[in-house]
Order: sequence, then structure tokens, then C-alpha cells
Amino acid sequence: MNKKAITAIAAVLALPMAASAGPDDDTLVVNEEIEMVTKTAAPAHIADVIDEVMSGWHFRKDETQALQMDDFENPAMIFVDQAIDTWNTVEGSEGKSCASCHDDAEDSMVGVRAVYPKWNEAAGEVRTLNMQINDCRENQMGAEKWKYSGGKMAAMEALISVQSRGMPVNVATDGPAQSTWEQGKEMYYTRTGQLELSCANCHEDNYGNMIRADHLSQGQINGFPVYRLKNTKLNTAHARFKGCIRDTRAETYKPGSADFVALELYVASRGNGLSVEAPSVRN
Ligand code: HEC
Ligand code: HEC
Repeated sequence: MNKKAITAIAAVLALPMAASAGPDDDTLVVNEEIEMVTKTAAPAHIADVIDEVMSGWHFRKDETQALQMDDFENPAMIFVDQAIDTWNTVEGSEGKSCASCHDDAEDSMVGVRAVYPKWNEAAGEVRTLNMQINDCRENQMGAEKWKYSGGKMAAMEALISVQSRGMPVNVATDGPAQSTWEQGKEMYYTRTGQLELSCANCHEDNYGNMIRADHLSQGQINGFPVYRLKNTKLNTAHARFKGCIRDTRAETYKPGSADFVALELYVASRGNGLSVEAPSVRN
């Protein structure tokens, strides 16, 4: 890191750079049943910079962690229930619901979250789960697209993600997805804004440190969408990226933009091997 970046980070870190609370050593088991891999060897493509990848869960307070350990306590599950109703509701010119083609999400959507964002051959593009959902709404149902990071979308994303809980994130970074992945990587390491900070400056160089009152994690997205106590709703990964970029006082991108799709693929790939934890709970 150059001197400028160090100065910028020192300016936003509440404590001296050396102070580190580190991740905790707790284990995450959801509903006393689903054992989550929350720490594991880093995937090969980042092994030269990070030994172990870790879920953001390890960096939260015990009370916040506890909310994610039991579905009756997890405030995000209300939205999952709402999405089950949506799943079964007929909408649009074709007179179809998601269930018309995909039957029960509990069966048809197992393992789907773990491999998204994913290359779609027919469309010739990398698609996030949210893009695929909107594609089905528009082209299969003849219904209006949902707002990319809106409540309906985040809830549906959570319902689909929940079917993969405990499965390892396994997004493809090679083949036809490679150029998108490279674009995302470039973004991850590019310093932006008045503070001239990259994602890596905070989430790779400084995880474990305190930044203002917050305990800095690796910025993983295996738990997304995330219920935040701060805004009492589900938050998509793109909404979180937007917030982080804004914190560096830079112009940010729009949720659903090609830039954020590429960034999501790259960030997801940094968590390959961690369990899908969505919907998780954060402050
Ligand atoms: C008329 C049938 C139809 C309806 C209705 C429909 N889909 Fe789909 N869906 C498909 C088809 C066909 C594919 C595979 C498309 C492809 O690969 O491009 C698909 C693919 C998907 C996938 C990706 C699965 C994977 O393994 O990659 C998801 C997620 C999905 N649909 C969600 C939904 C949701 C949510 C709804 C309701 C809002 C919905 N679909 C409504 C036909 C439908
Ligand atoms: C100035 C430091 C800083 C920069 C730069 C920054 N973030 Fe963050 N980020 C934070 C803080 C603080 C949090 C909240 C605590 C935590 O989870 O790390 C956070 C949270 C996150 C989370 C939520 C993690 C979870 O488990 O809930 C993601 C994802 C994330 N950041 C991604 C990014 C990406 C991608 C970039 C680059 C576009 C970025 N961040 C840039 C400080 C930063």
C-alpha cells in the first residue's frame, strides 16, 4: 500500500492501525441443524494475499450473531415467508406464477444461489440471481420487472438463497465468465473517491481492525441478502457496495449496473468455499 492510502485509512480508523479485535472463534450452527463453514482456506486466486476467508458473521457482536442462529429469531425470515406467497401468485400477461414453471422453491431452487452470478449461454452474459428473476418475470410471465434492490426482489432472492444454506459458494471464474470476473477484480483493487481507497484497502488489508465504531470484516457476500438492524430490512449486495463506495466519497454505480454485476462475481469468488448463509443478520 502506498503512503497516501495508509494516511487515508488512518484518518477513518478510530483506533491506531495496530489495534485489532480480530474475528472470533465461535461456530455457526443454524436451527441446531445446519453447520456453516464460516472460515476456510482461501480460494487459489487470492491465496497469495489471504490465508483464510471468513464470514462477516465472525466480526459481529454476540447478540447480532445469535439472531442468525435460529430462524424464529432471524428477522429476515418474515420476508422469506412473504416471498413464498409471491412465488405462488399469478401475475402478468401469461397468467403464470413462479410455481407454474418451477413447482416448489424448496425442491427446484436447491443449490442455485451457490453458483450465482453465473454465465447464461443463451443471453451471452453473466447474470446475477436478481437479473435472472427479472428475466423470468419479464420474458416468462409477461410481468413488470422488480426494482433491482427493492423489497420484493430482496425477499425473493432470500427465499431462493435459503434453499442453498450450508452449501459451499462455488461461482465459476473461468471460461466465458472470465472477462467479467477480471473486470470485477480490477474494480476491487482500484482506489476511488476523495479518500482514494479501494475495497482491498479496507477488506483485505484491514479486516479485524475497528473503523469508527465498526468491526471491519472481509466484505464477503456469502450471507446476502442481509437483514440489517440499522434499516430493518433486507439489503442486497449491490446496495451494500453502493454504501461502501459512498463512504469513500466517490461517485457510485447503480444497483444492477454491469459494473456491479462484475464486482459481485469477483467478490462472490473470494468467498468460494464458505457456506451460503443467507439471509444473515448484521448491524
Ligand atoms: C413460464 C415458465 C417460467 C416462469 C413463470 C418462471 N420461470 Fe424461472 N426459469 C424458467 C426457465 C425456462 C429457466 C431457465 C432459463 C435459462 O436458463 O435461461 C428459468 C430459470 C430460473 C432461475 C435460474 C435457475 C438456475 O438453475 O440457474 C431462477 C432463479 C428462476 N428461474 C426464478 C424464477 C422466479 C423467482 C420466478 C417468478 C418470479 C420464475 N422463475 C418464473 C421458466 C420460468
Ligand atoms: C473505508 C473502508 C471501506 C471500503 C473502502 C469499503 N468498505 Fe465495505 N465495509 C466497510 C465497513 C466498515 C463495513 C461494515 C463492517 C463489515 O462488515 O466489514 C463494510 C461492509 C461491507 C460488506 C458487508 C459484509 C457482511 O458480511 O455483511 C460488503 C459485502 C462490503 N463491505 C463490500 C465492499 C466492496 C465490494 C468495496 C469496494 C467497492 C468496499 N466494501 C469498500 C468499510 C469499507
